[in-house]
Amino acid sequence: MKRVAILISGGGSNMLELVRDMVGDHPARPVLVASNDPAAGGLVKAAALGIPTAAVDHRPFGKGRQAFEAALLAEVEAARPDILCLAGFMRILTPGFIQRFEGRMLNIHPSLLPKYPGLHTHARALAAGDTEAGCTVHEVTADLDAGPILGQARVPVLPGDTEATLAARVLTAEHRLYPATLRRFAAGDRSPLFL
Ligand code: GRF
Repeated sequence: MKRVAILISGGGSNMLELVRDMVGDHPARPVLVASNDPAAGGLVKAAALGIPTAAVDHRPFGKGRQAFEAALLAEVEAARPDILCLAGFMRILTPGFIQRFEGRMLNIHPSLLPKYPGLHTHARALAAGDTEAGCTVHEVTADLDAGPILGQARVPVLPGDTEATLAARVLTAEHRLYPATLRRFAAGDRSPLFL
């Protein structure tokens, strides 16, 4: 049974979908939900589901990214995870942290990578007049939002879409894509899934 730690920064809707799917014959189980924000709503939801949680507030560390990551790593390593899932985690991790989990760290990004790495993906898709948008699950490497693609889901961009309506449609697709991709990855299948 693979042990999965999930890093969040906010509400954790993706985390909840991953946790809900890791039951029965699923080859993995959640062992930790950790956040860089002690007030992250997802921590309360995870605790209510009986999942161990941890919070390492990044703010007291100021520019000390290394010190923050060392504190976060201590919490994560204590859970002995086999796989690390970033789910709405909004801190950029240094290569030092990533190397510890190279090949077993996943992230979900709200665009059809390689299009629109970074932030404000929906606004950029709308500004470009794209007729399609979506989300990508990829392995995390030192290159931001550029690791091997493990899964993608496409949604239409509709006339009159705003950033909010498109974000909501993509988030629904994320909630389908991430659990399906983690299930395959935990079973040792790294072939990309296209929904
Ligand atoms: C959402 O914008 C989602 O597209 C991205 O992270 C943000 C929050 O996700 N992956 P969550 O609800 O905290 O999972």
